[in-house]
Amino acid sequence: MRVTVAGSGYVGLVAGACLADTGNDVIGYDIDEAKVEELNNGHIPIFEPGLAELITANRRAGRLRFTTNLVEAMEHAHAIFICIGTAPNPDGSADLSGIFSFAEVMAPEVRRPLPVAIKSTVPVGTGERVEQIIRGKAKHPVHLISNPEFLKEGSAVADFQRPERVVIGYEDAEAAEPIRELYVPFVRNQHPILMMGRKAAEMAKYACNGILASRISFINEIANLCDACGIDVDDVRRAMGTDGRIGFQFLYPGAGYGGSCFPKDVQALVHTAEANGVEPRMLSATHATNEDQKHVLFRKIESRFGAGVNGMTFAVWGIAFKPNTDDIREGSALTLIRDLLGAGAKIHAHDQEALVHLRKEFGERVTYCDQSYQALEGADALVICTEWNDFRSPDFDRVKALLGQPVVFDGRNLYDPKTMRRYGFEYHPIGKPVVMPGE
Ligand SMILES: NC(=O)c1ccc[n+]([C@@H]2O[C@H](COP(=O)([O-])OP(=O)(O)OC[C@H]3O[C@@H](n4cnc5c(N)ncnc54)[C@H](O)[C@@H]3O)[C@@H](O)[C@H]2O)c1
Repeated sequence: MRVTVAGSGYVGLVAGACLADTGNDVIGYDIDEAKVEELNNGHIPIFEPGLAELITANRRAGRLRFTTNLVEAMEHAHAIFICIGTAPNPDGSADLSGIFSFAEVMAPEVRRPLPVAIKSTVPVGTGERVEQIIRGKAKHPVHLISNPEFLKEGSAVADFQRPERVVIGYEDAEAAEPIRELYVPFVRNQHPILMMGRKAAEMAKYACNGILASRISFINEIANLCDACGIDVDDVRRAMGTDGRIGFQFLYPGAGYGGSCFPKDVQALVHTAEANGVEPRMLSATHATNEDQKHVLFRKIESRFGAGVNGMTFAVWGIAFKPNTDDIREGSALTLIRDLLGAGAKIHAHDQEALVHLRKEFGERVTYCDQSYQALEGADALVICTEWNDFRSPDFDRVKALLGQPVVFDGRNLYDPKTMRRYGFEYHPIGKPVVMPGE
């Protein structure tokens, strides 16, 4: 099928590349000229495992190209996927201006009856509003389908190619059929394509992110309580997670969730609830708990060093909001760095993929280190914000020798306290007793 994907970010690039890979003829349309030029020159602007290979192979096969030319994109389209960003407005609601502006300009260019599937995460009722905008100006019938995306950054390609389920929300079953057919090659493992009403599909995406975020905030609150009571949160987690009704997923205590989805989606759902006269007590608490948790590492550092933080240098390992991505949006490392700089500390930051984005945020105020051990040179202590795989078993002797003081604050609980004790570190994890050298 000839498919146009509007928006060439994390979701649009992955969806476009995966759809091209099953034989569809795909155009990625975006308003960002620099990004489109980069893509057409064979450079992939984001890091996502397997994505560069997939884009390169499908461009070579002539099934995938990118354009800023709307007329070309619309001439091509027999189905459209909208993957445009929906960042939060200052009041927490989703900013839909990118989607509405696309609907306004594409409508007069519609060449044939079309399904338009919104993959962006959008509040209940957005499909209806976008359909009205397009129908007001288009010469052919257009049906808006809700097709929320559940991929996870870091494993986005694998998630798209083998989804646990696909959700398709529609008002007109026949119009949704081409979208359903596009997904059939991805669910040969018998995972379901769930067909439902359009508003239910829009709500389903937010409800999924809401419950996952609430599990993280819940375990973080329990971890803070464990800290206060001198309990190891891992014992508590083991007892919780082995309960089949609870399970272990999303019960890892840490320095708070980040990324481009959970923070904004929880806030947007709060906004939707309030707009509909429902008090979102759980969702509001989930968000507030997380905002506070992003300061947990700084609080531990401050309670350890007091005013001495002023003038100290901290190595920060991990800037991306999670491993295997270069996305730093809303990440806890950003909060930590702001807190430390505010207290007069210096930062040596290291990340496998995200330093380029960090530099845009902090410029010359941070020292950027391509190598993890380089960040330790001249640093007084180490702080870990992201669980990149190669941080899990470092050369602890080398870490200790390079640090001014053998002190590690671990926002992802990567290390076994016994190991840290054996190597002579002072170790501050989340929700677990502090390890002091010599004890
Ligand atoms: N990133 C994720 O993990 C993820 C997962 C599931 C759902 N989502 C949702 O998918 C949507 C897109 O997220 P993303 O992370 O890919 O965003 P992104 O910021 O990486 O990409 C959005 C792209 O849209 C383009 N754009 C903006 N206005 C446009 C317009 N008028 N016409 C054409 N292109 C336009 C931008 O230039 C950008 O390239 C969001 O609603 C997000 O919540 C994201």
